[in-house]
Amino acid sequence: MQHKTPIAILISGRGSNMRALIESCARPDYPARIALVLSNNPDAPGLDVARAAGLTAQAIDHRPYKKDRAAHERALDAALRAAGVDYVCLAGYMRLLTPFLTTAWRGRMLNIHPSLLPAFPGLHTHERALEAGSRIHGCTVHWVTEGMDEGPIIGQAAVPVLADDTPDMLGARVLRQEHRLYPAALHRVLAPDAAPAAATSDCLLSV
Ligand code: GRF
Repeated sequence: MQHKTPIAILISGRGSNMRALIESCARPDYPARIALVLSNNPDAPGLDVARAAGLTAQAIDHRPYKKDRAAHERALDAALRAAGVDYVCLAGYMRLLTPFLTTAWRGRMLNIHPSLLPAFPGLHTHERALEAGSRIHGCTVHWVTEGMDEGPIIGQAAVPVLADDTPDMLGARVLRQEHRLYPAALHRVLAPDAAPAAATSDCLLSV
């Protein structure tokens, strides 16, 4: 039986990357298990997805904390520690983190971002890739550090930008690869000697 490292997933919305991680963690040979799903948004649809999969899913609403972001993060941190998790995967978690949480989980917190970093950190990445005339776009899994979308890269998946792409079309093409990349990158972190994930005809993936 493969040793499974306990992880948490932090979400704010629909949680499709979380779902990809849930599916991977369900495999006996995958080196992680999900001990907790946490959201800052009590209405995040992903919370129901997680509960339907039999996972513990908890919301810690940021709104009562007003501008005291560190206090909200202390509550998140307490929940993560109570659940005994070793790694944290941000998956569409839409709050900027303060140095409190990034320092507390340094080297143990990953994020997925919908661009080939260091290009297009921040929001609206697909629109910006089209405006810039990028011919190749993609997604990145990276370590979380204090600077937004700046930490060392763990893996990337690249897709072509096609002539008639809209931001939605391009975003959907990238999202399909996010769902391959995140489980592969986490696998690489937890089991570095395992074989790398394979590229496919529609994407170049490197972890
Ligand atoms: C993804 O595009 C992810 O890269 C970004 O936010 C989006 C979250 O989507 N950080 P989902 O909630 O995982 O479906």
